Amino acid sequence: MPEVLVSRPLALESGDAAWLALKKIARVHVRTVESKVALTRHPKLKNVAAVITMGTDPVDSKFLAAAPQLAIVANHAVGYNNIDLDAARARGVIVCNTPGVLTNATAELTIGLLFAAARRFGEGVTMIRKSAYRGWHPCLMLGRELAGARLGIVGHGRIGAAVAAKAWALGMDVVHSSPMGGIALDDLLRTSDFVSIHCPLNAKTKGMFGSREFALMKQGSYLINAARGEIVDERALLAALRKNLRGAALDVFHNEPKLNPKLRTHPAVFVLPHLGSATVEARAGMARLAVNAVIEVLSGRPPANRVS
Ligand code: GLV
Repeated sequence: MPEVLVSRPLALESGDAAWLALKKIARVHVRTVESKVALTRHPKLKNVAAVITMGTDPVDSKFLAAAPQLAIVANHAVGYNNIDLDAARARGVIVCNTPGVLTNATAELTIGLLFAAARRFGEGVTMIRKSAYRGWHPCLMLGRELAGARLGIVGHGRIGAAVAAKAWALGMDVVHSSPMGGIALDDLLRTSDFVSIHCPLNAKTKGMFGSREFALMKQGSYLINAARGEIVDERALLAALRKNLRGAALDVFHNEPKLNPKLRTHPAVFVLPHLGSATVEARAGMARLAVNAVIEVLSGRPPANRVS
């Protein structure tokens, strides 16, 4: 029987049909959430034909060298910036991702981040937890309304388009900028009240939001990021929060899970622990896509959602 390593327990019922089908054709090893063993050093890696990785697991030539039998990496994420595709291609290892099933969850979370930034949820919760609420008054923690404000969406793939539809329903004036169309990025930055990032992390987008981009943003504007932390230069973001930016709401950041203390403690920065796809519905869908990709490859059939 081929062996399969799953980087972390999946959000599936133990009786899930896809999971049972996998266990019928393969010996499955699951690394626990508590496990301190790096995936690259996992004792089973040298025997496995398939691995289900998380978007946070680096899959590089060192990883591939430790897994000489590997035929497929099924990445339990839509993003695959954690995978060295050239190295996988050179080894003939198939790479798949889990698109579509998490689009709505991530778009809903983004709308949550918009409200959190505009209505100062982070500051409000901190005030309550510190027992510092001294009573209602007309000028307490005033925010901004989303209706009538302009939302600039950077990157207009599945998630960006879903955010656009929801924001439009909230009465926002929505514009977008992407390599496929929309308005010029500089115009988007100059005219948007809220800028929300929805592009993949790659060589072109790494550090794409630096001091030049922040300087273009409107006085009193907000940054939302539910894509990848490395798209934003965090020092430049902190500097912009002292100038023209009123706030930021982030679901992702550099070096997760270690958050820069200046961002963690900034009153105008609201941060979540990478929860974009964290719904029962999306995580079950992601798990099934990853499991099914492994089943297909181990059965000699072409998998869906192949990225390389
Ligand atoms: C999550 O960040 C994903 O890429 O699915």
